[in-house]
Amino acid sequence: MKILSIETSCDETSVAILDASIGTKLRFTALAHTVASQIAIHAQYGGVFPAMAKREHTKNLPTVFLTTLKEAGMDQQNKKHITIDSKKEKQLKEILVREPEFVEFLLNELSKYKKPKLDAIAVTYGPGLEPALWVGLSFAKALAIFWDLPLIPVNHMEGHILSVLVQKNNLKYSTPKIQFPAIALLVSGGHTELVHVKDFLKYKIIGQTRDDAVGEAFDKVARMLGLPYPGGPEISKLAALNRNSLTPNPSNLLSVFSLPRPMIASKDYDFSFSGLKTAVLYLIRDLTKEHSNILENVGMKQAIAREFEDAAIEVLVNKTNKAVKTSKAKSLIVGGGVAANTYLRKELEEKIATNIYFPEKELATDNALMIAIVGAFKYQKKQYKKSFRTILGIRANGNLKL
Ligand code: KG4
Ligand code: ZN
Repeated sequence: MKILSIETSCDETSVAILDASIGTKLRFTALAHTVASQIAIHAQYGGVFPAMAKREHTKNLPTVFLTTLKEAGMDQQNKKHITIDSKKEKQLKEILVREPEFVEFLLNELSKYKKPKLDAIAVTYGPGLEPALWVGLSFAKALAIFWDLPLIPVNHMEGHILSVLVQKNNLKYSTPKIQFPAIALLVSGGHTELVHVKDFLKYKIIGQTRDDAVGEAFDKVARMLGLPYPGGPEISKLAALNRNSLTPNPSNLLSVFSLPRPMIASKDYDFSFSGLKTAVLYLIRDLTKEHSNILENVGMKQAIAREFEDAAIEVLVNKTNKAVKTSKAKSLIVGGGVAANTYLRKELEEKIATNIYFPEKELATDNALMIAIVGAFKYQKKQYKKSFRTILGIRANGNLKL
């Protein structure tokens, strides 16, 4: 089956076309995949602004979409335009009341192309930033009506879990054979969750953050250290420099300091990262009292980044290990933007004695390919919407749960 997918839940506008077969053997081949990042725009403000994200998605989605069609070789033009009868035109306008520019795009641009050989459209409908989600969802709904295809609403977090199913070795795709039950550790800018995975599409959240997500804590601490958004990779780079340094702690400035490991000994699988973030704030404040220009000292910044990363990752690894042992999990799946973190990968590999599956680095952060993978499983189980009324009724949900 061939699935076209759309992802606009945060600051990446992404479209993918996946060729999948789901039987005794799973096979996934990406026919095309485009990710347009808004990071450069949001970086000036130190974080993602929902209204700006929405505007950028609206501006970029048609181009990202056409680029992807072209990459998959699905951009054959028609001599005659696809004709849209007045009933369908009315339906498209009803779906796109808030995105009138997409009506233009469909009727004047996309009508020039032949309908590609696709089986369904999959789209993220939550969780995420609602104004951003609506852009991709409305576009996908209209596309489903335009081409008469079923529409599959997909949970973004489910996408992060299944993102590990596409592994690329020397430009070849392979799919690992994951054994169940599995534990999934989901670590992103908006989520920190431990999920018990009984089988594909069968999930239960067993623990989650009570306040900030771990990626959010990385981003906020980076900001305190004067590093650009997104802060995760920046902190990680500084921390690695400290770990590899011959003189890891600038002892001329200060002997040692340590940050808390919040909830590391609690009996549940929950997390809390807001206190850790505040502890960094106080640490910087105290250090500044002693040495006024502390953030100009590169060694000091590296030491703070390292201690923060050590603390956050120690908690993640500890709780994940406990979840894996208690549930006798045969596999561990790691997903979400923070899964790109090298130190987290190394620590999990070292401390957890089960098969661990990480996404390819480019599939760790937000992308449409992972949404298409979920779409393929749901399509096979006929979990899609076909009629105009049911398609129209799908609503974006910023707080959607697994
Ligand atoms: O999954 P994602 O792309 O978007 C959300 O759904 O939130 O995750 C983005 C988050 C950001 O907070 C970013 O700082 C973090 O992932 N991140 C990292 C690394 N790469 C991205 N955090 C730590 N280390 C990294 N290497
Ligand atoms: Zn994400």
